[in-house]
Amino acid sequence: MRKLINKLYKENYIDEIELLELLYNLNENDATYLIEKAHETMLKTYGNRVFMRGLIEFTNYCKRNCVYCGIRAANKKADRYRLSIDEILEVCKEGDRLGYKTFVLQGGEDEFYTDDKIVEIITEIKRKFPYSAVTLSIGEKSYDSYKKFYDAGADRYLLRHETASKELYEKLHPNASFENRIQCLWNLKEIGYQVGAGFMVGLPGQSNETFVKDFMFLKELEPEMVGIGPFIPHKDTPLADKERGTTYNTIIMLALTRLFLPYVLLPATTALGTIDPLGREKGLKAGANVVMPNLSPVSVREKYSLYDGKICTGDESAQCRKCIENRINKAGFVLDLSRGDNLNWKRK
Ligand code: 5AD
Ligand code: FES
Repeated sequence: MRKLINKLYKENYIDEIELLELLYNLNENDATYLIEKAHETMLKTYGNRVFMRGLIEFTNYCKRNCVYCGIRAANKKADRYRLSIDEILEVCKEGDRLGYKTFVLQGGEDEFYTDDKIVEIITEIKRKFPYSAVTLSIGEKSYDSYKKFYDAGADRYLLRHETASKELYEKLHPNASFENRIQCLWNLKEIGYQVGAGFMVGLPGQSNETFVKDFMFLKELEPEMVGIGPFIPHKDTPLADKERGTTYNTIIMLALTRLFLPYVLLPATTALGTIDPLGREKGLKAGANVVMPNLSPVSVREKYSLYDGKICTGDESAQCRKCIENRINKAGFVLDLSRGDNLNWKRK
């Protein structure tokens, strides 16, 4: 196993057969070594800096029905909300005061926010905070819509591919097209965004074979960011009774991602911090270098429930910001308050 890990460390690539062998045979000692190598890789690229993004969950209306997700359209129990443009700008103002230089606008696929409204939100944020990056995470849109948002000033776009297995993707996403999702990611790349793909770990039906597909896809797409977190069942979804993903498996996937894509911006996700009180720290030590504290108003926070148990440790964003900084320092990293662009990216 060491030989394969060393090869991956040196060349940032092993092929499908080698990766499958690694996944099937990795014992705990090998895992420790893999994590060390991922950490070394991160030190060589971004150093021990951890970047911070302010997450704004601005709508939990969604027209889709991902079977794992708590805000799926069919969940009649979800208490739906939308933030107005003024409310969003108010959140950004508070974030700006706390030093955030990236705002991540995340929401369900909600047609209430027309392209014009999204463009208006981007334009206003950029006018008020021109030195800040705007990241969108609002799902599948047409090439033209993506282009309009980019031209309005959006810098980055998060659209996890969720799984690179077409068969599994279609089981988890009723009436959705795997091909369209993948095409959206290529479109975003072509337009010039810093693109974030990614997947969940521990989904029912996932296997080492599907993980191999995920890494081969990531290596081909070369996204600037990758979001990886454990699957956590939500009580009001068809997957309510399934097992959650584990910290261990998630951390292995983070480490592999750092090794395949040394310059990737890789968050230690909220989901990882939800299943394990030290999950975020473990993620950082395995190659992650981004944290995304929640800036959404406290009044709506519990309504943006993608999975059970999703809470923040601080009940106020300022508190949260300090607490996160302390924890990052304790884990041996330093908080970097710059925009934190991918080092290989330039705006087209
Ligand atoms: N558990 C973990 N992650 C989830 N997501 C959605 N539902 C869940 C869940 N039950 C993730 C998806 C999505 C991101 C915003 O949140 O990967 O892309
Ligand atoms: Fe909204 Fe998945 S349920 S995109």
